[in-house]
Order: sequence, then structure tokens, then C-alpha cells
Amino acid sequence: MKHLLTVIHLILFVSCISLDNKTVKSPDSSIKLNFQISNGQPFYSIKKDNKVIVEKSLLGIILKNELDFSNGVKIESVSSSSHSSKWSPQFGEQSNIKNIYNELIVSLVKDNFNMKLSFRVFDDGVAFKYNIPNQDNISSYDIIDEKTHFNLSSQDKAWWIPAFSYRRYEFLHAHSSVDSISKKYFSKNVEDISYDTLGINAAHTPFTLKKKNGYYVSIHEANLINYSSMTLAPRGNGKLEAELYPWSDGTKVKLESEISSPWRTIQIADNSSDLLLSNMIINLNDDPNESSDYSWVKPGKYMGVWWEMIGTNESTWWPSANHGANNKKVKNYLDFASSHKFDGLLVEGWNIGWHPEWCCSGDGNPFSFTKTQKDFNLPLLSQYALDRGIRLVGHHETGGQIENYEDQLEDAFKLYKKNGIKFIKTGYVNDVSKNIKRIDESGNVKYEWHHGQYMIEHNQRVIEKAAEYQISIIKHEPIKDTGLRRKYPNFISREGAKGQEFNGFSSNGVDHITILPFTRMLSGPMDYTPGIFKLKNFRYVAPDNKVIDEGAIVPSTITKELALYVVLYSPMQMAADLPKHYIEHPEAFEFIKNVPVDWSEKIIIDSEIGSHLIIARKDKLSDNWYLGGITNNEPRTVKLNFSFLEDDKVYNLNIFRDTEETHWKENPMKYEIVSRLISSNSIINLNMAEGGGFAIEITSNK
Ligand code: NOJ
Repeated sequence: MKHLLTVIHLILFVSCISLDNKTVKSPDSSIKLNFQISNGQPFYSIKKDNKVIVEKSLLGIILKNELDFSNGVKIESVSSSSHSSKWSPQFGEQSNIKNIYNELIVSLVKDNFNMKLSFRVFDDGVAFKYNIPNQDNISSYDIIDEKTHFNLSSQDKAWWIPAFSYRRYEFLHAHSSVDSISKKYFSKNVEDISYDTLGINAAHTPFTLKKKNGYYVSIHEANLINYSSMTLAPRGNGKLEAELYPWSDGTKVKLESEISSPWRTIQIADNSSDLLLSNMIINLNDDPNESSDYSWVKPGKYMGVWWEMIGTNESTWWPSANHGANNKKVKNYLDFASSHKFDGLLVEGWNIGWHPEWCCSGDGNPFSFTKTQKDFNLPLLSQYALDRGIRLVGHHETGGQIENYEDQLEDAFKLYKKNGIKFIKTGYVNDVSKNIKRIDESGNVKYEWHHGQYMIEHNQRVIEKAAEYQISIIKHEPIKDTGLRRKYPNFISREGAKGQEFNGFSSNGVDHITILPFTRMLSGPMDYTPGIFKLKNFRYVAPDNKVIDEGAIVPSTITKELALYVVLYSPMQMAADLPKHYIEHPEAFEFIKNVPVDWSEKIIIDSEIGSHLIIARKDKLSDNWYLGGITNNEPRTVKLNFSFLEDDKVYNLNIFRDTEETHWKENPMKYEIVSRLISSNSIINLNMAEGGGFAIEITSNK
């Protein structure tokens, strides 16, 4: 990653009403962060254009030895600086990212103990973090509570998913007042989780809300490392409080020394589109260590022996007459995917450990990550792939059995490296709350939360070990993204939301995909696995009876599936459907083959959360542009102008659009292709059908 410019200097953007009251402005002066001590307690508040975003809210950390930094503190010193730089990610959504902010660092004392609070105020939001440096008089750095409050308003309405619930991040969103966050509300309005009684009422982050005063805000965290995931618990009257996932013994965070918390982030935008332009989270992460070389990490596209297990249900992961990962089938897929220039082919169900009841209690047979099933020959198939210019994408489903996986990690990566494998999709299916088994130092069995520090540390071990073998990880059932992909580019993508697979075995409904970009996607790239072309009558009731399940439906249209390659950023993007379904729509498949995975620019043309989104992106390697538009259950007409194109140039435009008969439920596979010439002053009107969309490829006409 290249830094183009760095300027750090002291400047007078901090104003003081008294020693105990400081205000920091964003570089464009629109956002104001106020820090104050009142009655010995530290508070912050945020305004944008003088309108309240977060009212006076408490800060603080309580250590195990009852050292409580939310009370009895004094300011010892204050320093401020301003920062402006530009950096270039190895791959991403933009070639250049600006990182401009004003910083305030407040050193607090409580008796003889010290804590520092760092605030960064950007034009697109505010971030802050806690630092408790090493001190002789602190006997334990374990955290029993974090007292970060977010005083919003009861009238602010949020899109949220429940934390402390069985299925990690894989839920549809509730849309309610911030005060309504509860399992009870979710059970009544979205999905019944009332039986899942462990843990508190809280929401995961990114937590996106529209304030009564019109601003869009998203609360999340950046650089989550050596800590535990933050959730947000309602405290009434619009107040939320950070709640960290605890260890099984109740401690929130266990640390041997100095505490450096993740950044607590509050992204603020005037409208939903601007929220998608914020780079604050990734800006709050570090570059890779200078000694590390990640030039071997490359973005790409892959297919998979996958949808036939999870979607069409014609194969099994486990040994059976319909076992998917068999030599013959894998070769056929490799022939197809390599002839269409894909970079990889994922094969699931290749290893020992799969059986019909593998899912989802975490208690089943442990998987082997080195022993193959009888009909899958790893050296033969990986060579077959390499001979055709493609590589296998490995698969490690752990079932949430962490120790079993860690015991085999080194051997598993060694085996894959030997076979030319550069990407591994990992998985942590374990659909029971607080069910990650850990054997403690005394040999006792403990059960941990999926999002707690134990799993965050595991995450770290896997990603660092994978880098030693030049392997990139696409993680399913992950810890949420907090921008670590900047420091560890081989953490290339992850799931971490209800993705396409749920349309295979149940349904996400039509609107979900119009909410994801404003919630989950604010954290980083997603392996959503788009590109399903056979949207109805695709699923067998069982692999061995081949009876069509007429109720199964992917609530989308072919045009919308194409649009998702532009709308949902991922540097490793899957074409998830089966070859036999792609050959029925060769032109649409061509779009999937052409669409880039590495971009130089992004423009949000129009959006509203839960309604629609239209994005234009420019290819990093050419002057080509791609547009994707998606809508919810409502049909929509959009007027597109192309002012982002270079003047005085003529371009070819290829549109994949819904027809008058297209409808996500009645007629999802109907689309038409229109080609024409355009220039920067052209204007076109486009219709999106109910639940549909459009995709556009713009190439320069030399
Ligand atoms: C859940 C993952 O999200 C899915 O993609 C995978 O096929 C199954 N686990 C099996 O590992």
C-alpha cells in the first residue's frame, strides 16, 4: 500500500470552554465532537451542522480489580493534531483513499492510574478508542465492563439484527426504534428467537439508523483485535450501551498488559448514498507490517461444486450415491470454469467428516482437513486444474470445533499449498448460542460465544498462519469485518450476513438485499455468492428423488443477479450457479465473466435503505464502467445520466434490463439486452421490475 502524502501538524481546531471541556471539529467543520468531564465522569457528544447526532454520553472502562475509569477522573493533559494523507489499497473499491481527520488525545488520571482517550473527527464521522498503558500499579488488565454509551433518540429508527442469538449474523433486519431492540420484538416481527434465551437483548454492529432530524448514522467498530466484539444494548429513552461478548467466566476481555481498544465508530451522512462513500473504518486500520509482502494476494472470480448441495439439492457433502465432490464431476466443472477463464473452483465435501447430521450443533464428528473422501483425488484434480490455468479453492468447514481445526491448521495449509491452492473458504457453522467448545488450562470444558475474544484470537491465528503459506481466506460464519483486511490483505472476503445460500434452503425475501449494502456491507466486502440464473423450480426435495420443490424460489431476477456483482463489493466474487444453468443464458453469463473485481472509482447514483440502490464503478484496469441497480418489491423507473464519463468520447453501452413481464415471483428469468452508443451527456430511462434491477457495461468505442 502506497502512501502518497502525509501531513501531520498542530493546528487550532480544538476549542476550550474550560479545561474540562474541549470541542474538536471535522476538517470541513461540519461535525463537532465535544469532550467534557462532569462531576468526575467523562462524556462526549456529537453534532453535525449544529444538529444533535449523539447527545452527551458516558465513556469509560472498568477493570477486573474494580478500577473504574468512568468515574472520578481528571484531565491530566490534552494534545491535538491534524492529519491528511492519501493511500492506495492493493485492491479495492477505489484506487486512492483520503484519510483526513483532526485528533484529540486526552490523558486522564484517576488516583494514580492513567487512561488515554483518542478521538478522531473526520468529515464522515467520529471515532474514539481507549488506551490504558502499562502501569506498575495495575495488577490485571482484564476488563469487566466497557461503559461506552450512545445517547440517541427514541425517535431514531434503526435497521438491526439481534446479537447473543443462535445464528451469528445470519438474520433478516428488524426496523424499529432503538428502544425496541429485544429478542421479543425480533421474535414478533422478524423471526422467532424467543426460545434462545441465553445472553442479553442487544444488536450487532454495523448498526445503521436514520435520525429523526434526517441524518444517517452507522455505529460500528474498527480494528477489532485482542478484544471482544461490541454489541449495543438498549437502555431506554434512545440510549444504547456497548456490551462486549463475555468469556464463559464473565470477563469481557482478558489481557496480559496494555489495553488498546478497537475504535468505536460513528459514521454520519446527510443521506443514505453518502454513508456508502465513507472510508472511515478502513482508515482506522493499519497498513501491513513493513516486513510483510502480500503481493501474492490477487482478487478473482470462482465457481463451485456448491450450489448443488445448498441450492439445487441434487448432491450431498457426505458420501452417498449423489456425493458432489467426485473426480468426474469436479473435472467437468474445471473444464467449464477454466474455459470461461475463472480463477478458481471451490469444492465442498472433499474431506472426511461429512455426514447427513453434520450441521449444526458443533458436536458432530470432527472434520479432517487432510484426508479426502474416496472418490476425490486431490493431487490429480489440482494438477488437472493447474494444467487448465485454474486452481481449486479449498474448503475448511470447522463446524465450530476450534481445537480440532487448530490442531490440524499447519498440516492442512501445507497440503493445500503443495497442491497449488491459494484460496480457502472456511466455515464455522454451529447454530447454538454460546457453544464454541474450549478446553481450559485445567482441562475443563468451557463454552464460548461465537463473537467473543476466544474466536477473535482464533481468527487472528488462522489469518496469520494462512499468510505464511500464501493462502487467502474467504471466511463464512466469521467475526464481523472491522477493516483488518487492510493490514492482512489475505483476509480477502467473508460472509457474515444472510447471503444467497438462504435463498437456496429457505428465503431472504425481496427487500433484504436492499438493506445489506447499508448495514453489513459498511463493514467490508461480502462473499454473498450472487449469480443465480435458475431462480424457480431449481431445487429437488431430496437428492435421491429428484422431485422439484415448487415452493423454492430465489427472490430476484436475472438482471438483479447481474447487478449484485456491482452493488456488493467483493475482491473474490463467486458465480454461484451451475454450468447447466449458465449455458442457457450465454450473454448474461458473459457479463459475469467481464465484470471486474478490482475498481478505481465508485459513484452512488441513487439510493434509499430498503428501497433501491444504483452504483457505478470504474474498472481499475481499463476505462470501462459498470452499473448495477436493484429495487425492493416496488417497480421503479430511473433516469440515468452519464456525466461521470469523459467528455467528447463515445462509449458502447450494453444494458441487461427487466422487461414489462419480468417479476421476481411470476417471471424472474425474463430480461432483454439493449446495446447502443452513448456519451457523457446522454440520458436514458430504465425500468426495474418488482424485485428486479439492471446491469450495464460501458466500454469505450475506439
Ligand atoms: C455454511 C456456509 O455459509 C456455506 O457456504 C457452506 O456451504 C456450508 N456452511 C458448509 O460448509
